[in-house]
Amino acid sequence: MSNSASAPYDSQTDNPAQQSFEIRAFEAPLGAEVMGLALDKPISSTDFARIHRAHLDHHVLVFRDQRITPEQQVAFSRRFKPLQIHVLHQFALTGNPEVLIVSNIVENGKPIGLGDAGHFWHSDLSYKEKPSLGSLLHAQELPSEGGDTLFANMHLAWDTLPSPLRKAVEERRAEHTYLARYAELQARSPWRPNLSAEQIAQVKPVEHPIVRTHPETGRKALFVSEHFTTRIVGLPEDESRALLDELFAHSVLPVHQYRHRWQPHDLVFWDNRSLMHLAAGTPDNLRRKLYRTTIEGDTPF
Ligand code: SIN
Repeated sequence: MSNSASAPYDSQTDNPAQQSFEIRAFEAPLGAEVMGLALDKPISSTDFARIHRAHLDHHVLVFRDQRITPEQQVAFSRRFKPLQIHVLHQFALTGNPEVLIVSNIVENGKPIGLGDAGHFWHSDLSYKEKPSLGSLLHAQELPSEGGDTLFANMHLAWDTLPSPLRKAVEERRAEHTYLARYAELQARSPWRPNLSAEQIAQVKPVEHPIVRTHPETGRKALFVSEHFTTRIVGLPEDESRALLDELFAHSVLPVHQYRHRWQPHDLVFWDNRSLMHLAAGTPDNLRRKLYRTTIEGDTPF
């Protein structure tokens, strides 16, 4: 980590002044906009507590117009919990392994970032024993069209799941595997390098409950995704496949979704314990670059 990483936040202990900012809920099943807060300035513990509460309530916070450095993004993200380093270390920002470059840009014949991150619905790092608490994505360069990110509310998905389906899955666990669709993605894009034995060892399949309890709010959420969930433990393959397909279809119904249309310098912070997300896609001829930090969460229960 670079030494300047905690620059504006070192003064937290000095109890910095509160900032005057507004939190406005979107007219959507999730999400709120934070207006007037500058993340390049020290954040007082009172302001931090307000942000934390809003994150739990709305699941996505959109901080507008943030002129922050990657080091400031890392420092703000770290106030929640330690960060996770993505297995595709090829796409880490030079000198800052905790920042993943999400980008479709190819320079000198080499991709500068992970261009197909979020191609399928998923919750970040659900394939780890400790999946991510939340992720922060900061816009660096945006296309003139496309490039939206969709979020789906997995609490609503659970609350509205038809009763026979709830009964069929509520006590069950499912397997999550980073490699589930890797070959498929590799076949269609330049962004999936061959993995080393060490990288493969970092992403062994794990099992998690299909319905998880949010560790901070106690709310239940559906926790399976089309990207990483491969099977329901203890069921025959055909039964498992049929149930997973029904869960996937229900979880991302339009009534559960918020579509984020990026504005310059947006920093979007979402809760991976409450949501799934999807990158809607960018036309090939347009450039898109964002920096992602990923906060470690708890073992799901
Ligand atoms: C991701 O899945 O982290 C990337 C989402 C996006 O690029 O919109």
